[in-house]
Amino acid sequence: MTIHNLSDHNSILLKFISEIRAVDKQQDKLRFRRNIERIGEVLGYELSKHLKYNNKKITTPLGVKEIPQIQKDIVVCSILRAGLPLHQGLLNYFDDAENAFISAYRKHLDNSDAFEIVVEYLASPSLENKILLLADPMLATGQSMVNVYEVLKKTGIPKKIHIVSVIGATEGIDFIKDKFPEDTHLWIATVDNTLNDKGYIVPGLGDAGDLAYGTKL
Ligand code: URA
Repeated sequence: MTIHNLSDHNSILLKFISEIRAVDKQQDKLRFRRNIERIGEVLGYELSKHLKYNNKKITTPLGVKEIPQIQKDIVVCSILRAGLPLHQGLLNYFDDAENAFISAYRKHLDNSDAFEIVVEYLASPSLENKILLLADPMLATGQSMVNVYEVLKKTGIPKKIHIVSVIGATEGIDFIKDKFPEDTHLWIATVDNTLNDKGYIVPGLGDAGDLAYGTKL
């Protein structure tokens, strides 16, 4: 797996990351969702440099210009529900892409911190021979990403996978590394070193789904 940590270089992206982390900014749900979306746009732009293009003649009112056009066989898949703003950010740029949605939640065992990942809902086109952009904002333990991929494979084997995430824990990244094909790319806005006992990224940002959409039962 090739890892692209976009915080390795200073850019405007760091402002968006700061705002989703900061306790005095992240409570503004509209801004939080929009910042995740903006991060999705930046990650999407960067990964677009690694896709395939075919030349096409574009006719302007004054002439013709040959311009490489991005490949058409892209599927954006996000993990519900926290993945939705990230999905929208990717879709803002890959507007011709097909879309897939899959749910994954942490089912806590016996009221303890231990949990298993339950995957329930899937709506997906065929992924056979497609370019899969798999989006989940928080790559914590990595278990959801791996479980989701196992289920998605039933709809076809993608020819290439780009995992798109906002904040990753080193532990989660290490966990998923060898569970995806070797030529998979991970596009991540930033990486933190710690996971707490509840499987939350530290310092992270808290619960991305709750910050975007409110608490749930
Ligand atoms: N999901 C979140 O929303 N936050 C974390 O820190 C880990 C998983």
